[in-house]
Amino acid sequence: MAENTLRDKVAVVAGGEKNLGGLLSRTFAESGAKVVVHYHSSASDAEQTVQAIQEAGGQAVSVQGDLTKVADVRRLFDTAVDTYGGADVAVNTTGMVLRKPILETTEEEYDRMFGINAKAAYFFIQEAGRRLNDHGKIISLGTSLLAAFTDGYSTYAGGKAPLEHFTRAAAKEFADRGISVNTVAPGPMDTPFFYPQETPERVEFHKSQAMGNQLTHIEDIVPVIRFLATEGWWFTGQTMFPNGGYTTR
Ligand SMILES: NC(=O)c1ccc[n+]([C@@H]2O[C@H](COP(=O)([O-])OP(=O)(O)OC[C@H]3O[C@@H](n4cnc5c(N)ncnc54)[C@H](OP(=O)(O)O)[C@@H]3O)[C@@H](O)[C@H]2O)c1
Repeated sequence: MAENTLRDKVAVVAGGEKNLGGLLSRTFAESGAKVVVHYHSSASDAEQTVQAIQEAGGQAVSVQGDLTKVADVRRLFDTAVDTYGGADVAVNTTGMVLRKPILETTEEEYDRMFGINAKAAYFFIQEAGRRLNDHGKIISLGTSLLAAFTDGYSTYAGGKAPLEHFTRAAAKEFADRGISVNTVAPGPMDTPFFYPQETPERVEFHKSQAMGNQLTHIEDIVPVIRFLATEGWWFTGQTMFPNGGYTTR
């Protein structure tokens, strides 16, 4: 089915400049999609990603935005419509992590964590639901901590937890337009996002909980997202845990 390939589709990738989102932007472009590469503070990473896509013969444009501001979320989709005439796939890879006991967490930290992990994710789904073409795909990034019972990550796992309900509601509400909505919740991933919160001993523990004594790699997550954006269209309303068996439920 033509609508379930990426060829000539337009993909909006929030946080699409580096790490997981960067690889996803390049992979979508290799599959024939035109990519809107959103970035927050890393203009040079966004430039490199766009350049790599263009040098490989693909099409991409970058756009800056603080996605805790709804106007910036809207501007992301405006860019897709103004540059490429619409959007078909929307992936939100943005997030922020904090490992801190509840008793030490400040109001400012709580607001910042929920601002990007929950509020931005909500309005990204809302705007994607408004702007995507029929048969569109919306994918958000959660965390395998959604299926864990642990300390320290109250505002991170807690901030990502509403995603599951946003995803379920949106899947029902957008179904009549054939738009699927899912959350992908990786295990602890080998990117610079992960390490500042953890001690070397805890990193070893995280590794020991997954198959092959290893962290999750972005190369193992991108195919899952690409699948949901293509042949995996029949999945909707779901949270998937690609994590080598780190957590489950
Ligand atoms: N690494 C892990 O262990 C792990 C495990 C499971 C799930 N995840 C999730 O996977 C996703 C990708 O993570 P990653 O490891 O690839 O790290 P990452 O590249 O640092 O991804 C986080 C992205 O969110 C962006 N961001 C933060 N605040 C923002 C704001 N206010 N407005 C717009 N964008 C903002 C960051 O941009 P700036 O850096 O410029 O602020 C960055 O592009 C995240 O949602 C994360 O929660 C990560």
